[in-house]
Order: sequence, then C-alpha cells, then structure tokens
Amino acid sequence: MQDDALKWNTRHKENPPPTQPLELLKTHIHKAKVGKALDIACGMGRNSRFMRECGFCVDSVDISTYAISALQGEHNINAQCVDLDTFKIPKQSYDLICKSYFLERRLFPYMVEGLKKDGILIFETFIQSPVESQNAFTSDSSHLLRKNELLRAFLDLEILFYEETLITREKDSSLALVARLVAQKR
Ligand SMILES: C[S@@+](CC[C@H](N)C(=O)[O-])C[C@H]1O[C@@H](n2cnc3c(N)ncnc32)[C@H](O)[C@@H]1O
Repeated sequence: MQDDALKWNTRHKENPPPTQPLELLKTHIHKAKVGKALDIACGMGRNSRFMRECGFCVDSVDISTYAISALQGEHNINAQCVDLDTFKIPKQSYDLICKSYFLERRLFPYMVEGLKKDGILIFETFIQSPVESQNAFTSDSSHLLRKNELLRAFLDLEILFYEETLITREKDSSLALVARLVAQKR
C-alpha cells in the first residue's frame, strides 16, 4: 500500500489530472436519484465535486494521501484513504457509484451489491488495444479491460448505455480506446 500511495502522490503532484468531471457522468447523472454517491479511486476529486454540486453526499476513496487530503473537510464529501485491493463496499448503500480510470476487477461484485435498488453505476476506463499499448502509463495490461469485458461483467444490471470508443487524451493528444458503461440495479 505504501509504495502505491507514494507513486500516486508523486503522479498527482507532478502531472495534475483533468479538473473537468467525466463527460459520461455529466451526461447520465440525472438518471440517479439524488442521495448518496461513491467515487471509487476518486483521485483529485473532479467527479466527487461534480456529484456534490448535483446534490449528492459523496464518499470518496483513494490510496493517495495527497489526493485525499485535498478533499478532506469539503462540504458533503467524506474522503477516506483506503487500499482498494482490500476495501469492501457497504451493501445496498449508494444511489450512484462512479469509477473512472481505475480497474480492480475484484470490486465488480461489491459494486453491484453496493448499489441500492434503482441505483446507477457509471464506469469508464481504458481497453487494451494496439493504440493503448504504445502508452507507458498503462503498459501493465492487467490494468486494461478486454473488449466487451465491462459489458459482460455487469449483465446482472440493466445496461442503459455502453460504448467502446477512441478518445484523444488532453495531456498529450495521444489516442486511447476506452469503454463507457452506465447501468442500473433493478
Ligand atoms: C488515473 S487516476 C483516476 C482518478 C479519478 N478517478 C479521475 O478520473 O480523475 C487513478 C486513481 O486510482 C488510485 N489508486 C491506484 N491504486 C489504488 C489502490 N490500490 N487503492 C485505492 N486507490 C488506488 C490512484 O491514487 C489514482 O488517484
């Protein structure tokens, strides 16, 4: 945990991530009942703050002490430093769960359990592709989805939106393949 925390502290300080919330979240947040939200691997909190601005009370979790301390004390954000390799999501607790650009497959069933009835899951991250493998940041392929993997993993939920698409990264204009999923627990 210590090594990961240090690595991510440095990365957040030296290469500040985007501050704009995820477009997928902006587009689909209205589908969730306003209530409690969970931001998994929240980073510097762009999605946490957006959910809070939309009226949600947000639990924000990340391993980076630097990222979490930036969020601590903010109104309606409960920021906690946790290792998602072992973290357990409380059952039937959230109206909205957001996970962007972090992949820990062990969490998939806990994410489904963590949603309340009619709760919404919004999930976006990289897919393995020839384009993506040129990028050192995600050179560990275990941190990349396979094609259709995200869709298959959440078929117990109602899929409201799914796509796999190329994006241009803000930081260096490189191309990357991503999967975007919006799903609802019935
Ligand atoms: C690419 S950033 C994405 C941040 C945020 N979701 C966003 O889209 O701006 C990945 C985040 O995962 C966090 N992370 C990496 N490994 C982790 C772990 N084992 N437990 C908790 N958080 C972790 C990092 O600290 C980092 O903030």
